[in-house]
Amino acid sequence: MSLSDHRFCIAPMMKKTDRHFRFLARQFTKKSMLYTEMIHSNAILKGNREKLLSFSDIEHPVGLQLGGSDPEALAQAANIGQKFGYDEINLNVGCPSKKVKSGNFGVFLMKDIELLSSCIREIKKNITIPLTIKCRIGVDQFEGEEYLKNFIEKVADTGISLFVIHARKAISGLDTKRNRSIPPLDYDLVYKIKQAFPELKIVINGGIEEIDNVKKLLDKFDGVMLGRKVYSDPTFLLNIDKEIYSENTNLEFNAGIRNFMAYILSLTNPKDVNRSINHLIQIIRKVSHTKDIRRKLLSSLNDENMALEDVFTNFQEDHLPKVQTQSP
Ligand SMILES: Cc1cc2nc3c(=O)[nH]c(=O)nc-3n(C[C@H](O)[C@H](O)[C@H](O)COP(=O)(O)O)c2cc1C
Repeated sequence: MSLSDHRFCIAPMMKKTDRHFRFLARQFTKKSMLYTEMIHSNAILKGNREKLLSFSDIEHPVGLQLGGSDPEALAQAANIGQKFGYDEINLNVGCPSKKVKSGNFGVFLMKDIELLSSCIREIKKNITIPLTIKCRIGVDQFEGEEYLKNFIEKVADTGISLFVIHARKAISGLDTKRNRSIPPLDYDLVYKIKQAFPELKIVINGGIEEIDNVKKLLDKFDGVMLGRKVYSDPTFLLNIDKEIYSENTNLEFNAGIRNFMAYILSLTNPKDVNRSINHLIQIIRKVSHTKDIRRKLLSSLNDENMALEDVFTNFQEDHLPKVQTQSP
């Protein structure tokens, strides 16, 4: 199976890019590449697969991001992901959290190319969909142009043709949040990789927030990946199909919110409803310029005597037509 179009990717984010957020994102962009949160291979092998892996048909193209460092377990998990219908498996080689360090996976695989290569080979034997890698530019003392070129070359030799590179080195001991702001981003180093390996597809990630910057970066790289910007302002996605893919998909803010509210009403599990409402509040916060709109929505949501359906109907009647999109 061939690679999907990766010009604009929405980053995998734990506790954020669950299937509900991805459904919401699809109300505003049909073309972007979506990713799940990182899911550990053991969770897939031992946990509730339906709950962890099921997703809506409208999410395509969507990649399953796996974490782990046991080649056999990763291979089995990837095969299960393929059976669920994911378009791609992405291996997390970039997460620096303490949990990841103790399990010796995520970015710590950048220190052990042999183990990483075994994981890749084993996964590739068990899937026919593409396998991609999301990594950093380095970790701790494993850093610099020479190190990164050698890393990319060795990993490419195992048959990886698309790398998402978060242009920031990871530092063990720093918490995950600070590892997303310290040390500074180094796009130039990632560009040197693209120049040294023009046959590879390189997707750049880290600190991208403006549509103009997305366009500039696409002159140099095969794709961009955005995380925090998109989560904090999903209306940004209304620009993407037209501005990046030159497609007029006629998506519109109010219709998207209505669809998402109908989606929430169709959910049966209260946890899913809560998660989805969090995504909804996030987007309302961004577009409602008066605190009153949000306050009213929040207090209605907290009112046990009010049915969710009525809350949404009132909200749509009172406020949706007044909300302006951020799209040009
Ligand atoms: C809340 C949060 C959770 C994240 N979870 C993951 C994850 O599960 N897998 C992953 O590869 N990266 C994860 N990341 C890193 C993002 O994918 C991305 O690389 C990082 O945020 C930099 O991109 P940005 O500056 O556009 O946000 C996470 C980031 C955030 C903010």
